[in-house]
Amino acid sequence: MSTPGGPATARDALDGARTAIAAGGSPSARLDAELLLADVLGVSRERLVREPELPVAGEAVRRFQSHVRRRAIEREPVAYIVGRRGFRRLDLLVDHRVLVPRPETELLIEVGLELAPGARVLDCCTGSGAIALALKDERPDLQVSGSDLSAPALEVARANAQRLRLDVEWIEADLLDGVDRGFDAILANPPYVPRATIVTLEPEIARHEPRLALDGGEDGLDLVRRLIAQAAATPLLALEVGERQADAVVALLAGAGFSAVERLTDLAGIERVVVARC
Ligand SMILES: C[S@@+](CC[C@H](N)C(=O)[O-])C[C@H]1O[C@@H](n2cnc3c(N)ncnc32)[C@H](O)[C@@H]1O
Repeated sequence: MSTPGGPATARDALDGARTAIAAGGSPSARLDAELLLADVLGVSRERLVREPELPVAGEAVRRFQSHVRRRAIEREPVAYIVGRRGFRRLDLLVDHRVLVPRPETELLIEVGLELAPGARVLDCCTGSGAIALALKDERPDLQVSGSDLSAPALEVARANAQRLRLDVEWIEADLLDGVDRGFDAILANPPYVPRATIVTLEPEIARHEPRLALDGGEDGLDLVRRLIAQAAATPLLALEVGERQADAVVALLAGAGFSAVERLTDLAGIERVVVARC
């Protein structure tokens, strides 16, 4: 980018930012820089690519420098810096109160799309509301609820629901404690990172995402164990799991009386979702 406060084109701004972000350790510096500049200028990424001579001046320069600093030096996720993340067909508001929704979590939506018309479904550990909202968006006939222990996370989920005009019930609860057990299906992406490994994760996760969204206890399965025990009579339970956790989770489900258990693999070839029926 040219001197602070001075005029620049999108090309100049992106060149400088890409170098700084790559030096900070991001493996996706070009994409990051484009997303950050598109946010500052209020244009699409495609337009930046099409119109590299687009002027970047004044306040936009200052804001872009601040964005780049957060990304390059603090290793803050782009989604928190721009305050949004795409998930399925939705543009969700996200900030430090919630986990940034991941593409692999879309496997749980695929499970939900198979439910019978009008089914009652709970997105347990909803965070930004990603699963509950995407499901309601794609299957308006379902009766969808979302629950979380974190009141701040639920504020984000509610704001997303209001903005997207999606009718979802929100429940503040510790897993299923005090929650009606009459759901036809429970979908959950619970915290599943083994506690001691959190500090070894990339700074984007370890430093910036809520600890409550990550910490699954000593072996990562504390919440999974509790949820399986509580959900034992639910006709369908689908859980996102961490790498190499699927075998243990399948064993827990079998022990709780679930019969047919299926594993779904994500695009990286990792067994990422376990679906159990009783
Ligand atoms: C891995 S995040 C998933 C967020 C969202 N479902 C998604 O996929 O993007 C886990 C969520 O579980 C919530 N959580 C942690 N402990 C919980 C508990 N005991 N009961 C309910 N929710 C809990 C966290 O606040 C966080 O929002």
